[in-house]
Amino acid sequence: MFQTITDPSQVICRRMRPSDLDLVVRNEEISYPNPWSKRVFLDCLRAGYECWVLATRDRILAHGVLSAAVGESHLLTLCVHPDARRKSYGRRMLKHLLKEARRLGADTCFLEVRPSNESARSLYYSQGFVQVGERRGYYPAETGSTFREDALILSCSLL
Ligand SMILES: CC(C)(COP(=O)(O)OP(=O)(O)OC[C@H]1O[C@@H](n2cnc3c(N)ncnc32)[C@H](O)[C@@H]1OP(=O)(O)O)[C@@H](O)C(=O)NCCC(=O)NCCS
Repeated sequence: MFQTITDPSQVICRRMRPSDLDLVVRNEEISYPNPWSKRVFLDCLRAGYECWVLATRDRILAHGVLSAAVGESHLLTLCVHPDARRKSYGRRMLKHLLKEARRLGADTCFLEVRPSNESARSLYYSQGFVQVGERRGYYPAETGSTFREDALILSCSLL
């Protein structure tokens, strides 16, 4: 579906709007076992979090949400549509959100990631994140399972 986008200038980075949320939530649902709902995104928009998309005129290729306060920032979600992966959109969105965090005065960014999520870990490590801790049994068990995956806590200096 997205393979036809060959001109990177068609893809712009802009703030997420409430009217994007049907597509954003669809991307979440095909990407995560525990996707965020529309309501969670609306709460993030209302709270003034940094909510951004990479979009063409009628498609959302990637979205990301970051909160920043008192010198710290937290990457809350980062997601690229499966058909648009491995085209550097994830890196582009991550770099943009880190730039926004710096602009808001944050000197550190934290995030959680599943140890099994090799593509995301590789992306984060390539941008300077390092592991600073873990949260035991952080992720909810999938339907039919009692296994709760730990989270790795990564951080990155923005100085
Ligand atoms: C993780 C994710 C955001 C990466 O987005 P992407 O646009 O495919 O990644 P990019 O093309 O920007 O690649 C950037 C780097 O990520 C890593 N990477 C991405 N996909 C990878 C894969 N399948 N295997 C290994 N490394 C991968 C590589 O280090 C890559 O750098 P390189 O191209 O120089 O090798 C995307 O796979 C995704 O949305 N996954 C589902 C949601 C998710 O897990 N989000 C993170 C939650 S913490």
